[in-house]
Amino acid sequence: MTRFFLGITGASGHAYAEALLRALVAAGHEVDLSVTEAGAKVMRHELGIEAGTRGERLAQALPSWIGAPAARSVRAFASDAVEAPPSSGTALTGGAILCPCSMGTLARVSAGFSSNLVERAADVALKEGKKLVLVPRETPLSPLHLENMLRLSRLGAIILPAMPGFYHRPKRVEDLVGHVVGKILDRLGVEHSVGARWEGTEAPAEDAGVERPKSAEKSAEKDRSP
Ligand SMILES: Cc1cc2nc3c(=O)[nH]c(=O)nc-3n(C[C@H](O)[C@H](O)[C@H](O)COP(=O)(O)O)c2cc1C
Repeated sequence: MTRFFLGITGASGHAYAEALLRALVAAGHEVDLSVTEAGAKVMRHELGIEAGTRGERLAQALPSWIGAPAARSVRAFASDAVEAPPSSGTALTGGAILCPCSMGTLARVSAGFSSNLVERAADVALKEGKKLVLVPRETPLSPLHLENMLRLSRLGAIILPAMPGFYHRPKRVEDLVGHVVGKILDRLGVEHSVGARWEGTEAPAEDAGVERPKSAEKSAEKDRSP
């Protein structure tokens, strides 16, 4: 079991945060969770969850949000709880994920400016050499956004934009969300079955005695269809 810090900010894409939270707990991990003030507003808008900015409010929302058993693996902290364990390098174990990460939080983290627990936990991960995965969501990106990402990448943070691919032929929003969340879990070293894994498009040569994957058969059938 590893404990991760998940910071949810005011960027759009709270479905990613929800899927990530569920996946971390399902994989047997514990999560310290904090939502920024703007994050609480976007969460209400996108998920209909009243997280508030107080840890107690967020803790109360968790059982109906992700289910009571999963909620037991999550500790909720107020956004201004700078005295909470994730504020210290002695407490953090598996790393921090900011998902989704707003351009505001990204800028403050890149400047080492910790105005709340989410930014402080990211700062701690950087100074302790722990994993820091940032999942920015914005478009288009200004040179300032790009410079902030480059600076953080050079400092060792993993910049993993909420930018799902379509090559796995998603059918539902969940498939798109799972594509990004699977990549986050891969970078954290968490075993999972979230999101499809790419198996290639090319069918192996038939005379090589290699079994033809079903996906290749389907695509070959499609190519032959009028
Ligand atoms: C509905 C909604 C969607 C937003 N989406 C984004 C977004 O995708 N990316 C972003 O950087 N900011 C977005 N914002 C703006 C941020 O919430 C705002 O800059 C806020 O100050 C960020 O604060 P935080 O970094 O402390 O969470 C959005 C705001 C709202 C209300």
